[in-house]
Amino acid sequence: MCGIVAYKGDKDASKVIRDGLKTLEYRGYDSWGIATTDDSVIDVIKNIGKVSETYDSNLKISNNGSNKGIGHTRWATHGGVTKENAHPHLSQNGKIAVVHNGIIENFQEQRTFLKKQNFSFLSDTDTETIPNTIEYHMGRGYDFVEAAKRSFEHMDGQYAVVALNHDGKIVAIRREAPLVLGIGLNNEIFIASDVTAFLEHTKNVIFLEENDMVIVDGSFEIFNLYENCVVERPISRIDWDNEAAKKGDFDHFFMKEILEQADVINRIANIEQSIITDTVFDIKAAKGVYIVACGTAAYACMSGLYLFSKLAKMHINFCVASEFEHFKHFLTEDSLIIAISQSGETADTLSAIRAAKSKGSKVISITNMVGSSIMRESDKSILQKAGPEICVLSTKSYTSQLAIIALIVYEMDGHFDEGIASLRELSRYIYYLTSKNSRDFIKSLSEKLKDVEHIYLLGRNLQYPTALEAALKIKEVSYIHAEAYAGGELKHGNIALISEGTPCIIFTSDQTEKAILSNAMEVKARGAFVIGLGPKDNEIFDFFIKVRDAGDLNPIVQIIPMQILAYQLALLRNCDPDKPRNLAKSVTVK
Ligand code: M6R
Repeated sequence: MCGIVAYKGDKDASKVIRDGLKTLEYRGYDSWGIATTDDSVIDVIKNIGKVSETYDSNLKISNNGSNKGIGHTRWATHGGVTKENAHPHLSQNGKIAVVHNGIIENFQEQRTFLKKQNFSFLSDTDTETIPNTIEYHMGRGYDFVEAAKRSFEHMDGQYAVVALNHDGKIVAIRREAPLVLGIGLNNEIFIASDVTAFLEHTKNVIFLEENDMVIVDGSFEIFNLYENCVVERPISRIDWDNEAAKKGDFDHFFMKEILEQADVINRIANIEQSIITDTVFDIKAAKGVYIVACGTAAYACMSGLYLFSKLAKMHINFCVASEFEHFKHFLTEDSLIIAISQSGETADTLSAIRAAKSKGSKVISITNMVGSSIMRESDKSILQKAGPEICVLSTKSYTSQLAIIALIVYEMDGHFDEGIASLRELSRYIYYLTSKNSRDFIKSLSEKLKDVEHIYLLGRNLQYPTALEAALKIKEVSYIHAEAYAGGELKHGNIALISEGTPCIIFTSDQTEKAILSNAMEVKARGAFVIGLGPKDNEIFDFFIKVRDAGDLNPIVQIIPMQILAYQLALLRNCDPDKPRNLAKSVTVK
């Protein structure tokens, strides 16, 4: 959470940083700020709201044209959403500016200590202790870099920090929170929470290791605080197209990313079989397989449970990552954990991985972010190849996770080639599902639902996790309360919520038709407005969305009309489809 961008080069730093922050807004967008220096005086501009709503004219700060600076887009943890709490924060003497992502666990202690040294604080944040601690050490005769080192050594927690000194030096540290270094032409240096912030300037990246401290002064150097020496880190080349992280002609990333799903599924159909075979080997060798993730990725895992059971004839255990450590007692060196995360930085998923590692278990991750913490802490990784997903809501990353899980299971069942063929076929069908006609049809449903307070969704078998994911999509972007149940659970209490006109979305499939239709009848009998989604229409349905039966791949196709519905509902209810309230894409705090 929170996005960081720092720049040193020959361009106008405030603009480079502002543009970088725009692409990082998915990490947090309640306030933003930029600090630049002309090698003498630091200027800070901050505001509440989204940096993408800032015009160039608002960026004019006194040292215009400065080519060194740091910036931040915030998702509040310590302290409310106010201009004072927005980053960058200055040291008391105004000579050091700091941006920060994560949590400084011992900040209260540090604050109390600094107050005793006559430091005063302007914000409620943990961040403000950082520049003041650096100033404190500089006051004892250390230079900026040494003072920063000493400060970081005494800061507990998970964080990424970048500090700018008034003379133009920059230091940054990565400690359990993402931070990457971009190396541009002519000694240009970028430091950011992820590569999308500088992709249009450079694709040459250094993924920092834990406790790496970057020192930028002319050129750059990496000093590892644990190893206590200068270290060399390899430069990797990112193969993402820089247009992929831009909106292009679309109004929102949400719709752009929904439409990209046909290509993403096709890309996965071109995956090297050996990657999947290798994973299957580990699964077969393991004594106990656990699959963990959060949010949407967790629903992809749930679909996986059904597929493993049916096709691989194997039981795997599922747990939301945030609860996993309470089950770690079962783990042994022979256990295998499959962790799924689009961002590769989700704190809850990372702690599940660490819990597993602490028991000596093996970890395979499925992630979209090369070089991410989850990828680096796993024994092996499968890359989702979904391309940058900028909208806070997961869409293409979800369907790519489903496709990869399906391929693993097909391979276990000895039907990898058939799996690939089915994905190719599905990719063509997704073009149809996302076509303008299909979208307009869903729009007519969103107009009927735009003012409702509740939507209930029912599914059985693979359609149950799909219903859960559809409910999450509707909730997080339109703020309509949506709740999903396994069809059979309806009569165990939830049916009490159904009354005249309550919208109920029923996910059907050839396999589950009979049972789910009886649930549809039960809600219909209580006056529900019944929306069917699946291969066959039925007279019970007041509205029907036809989606062909894709069998074991139903979760991939059935979610797409629901993503479109969520998008349309957001538009009709004047909600921001890319940046829903209170959410951040990369949830790097527990
Ligand atoms: O990056 P991750 O896949 O680990 O993220 C997990 C969840 O935070 C994420 O799926 C979240 O639920 C999205 N808002 C869903 O749209």
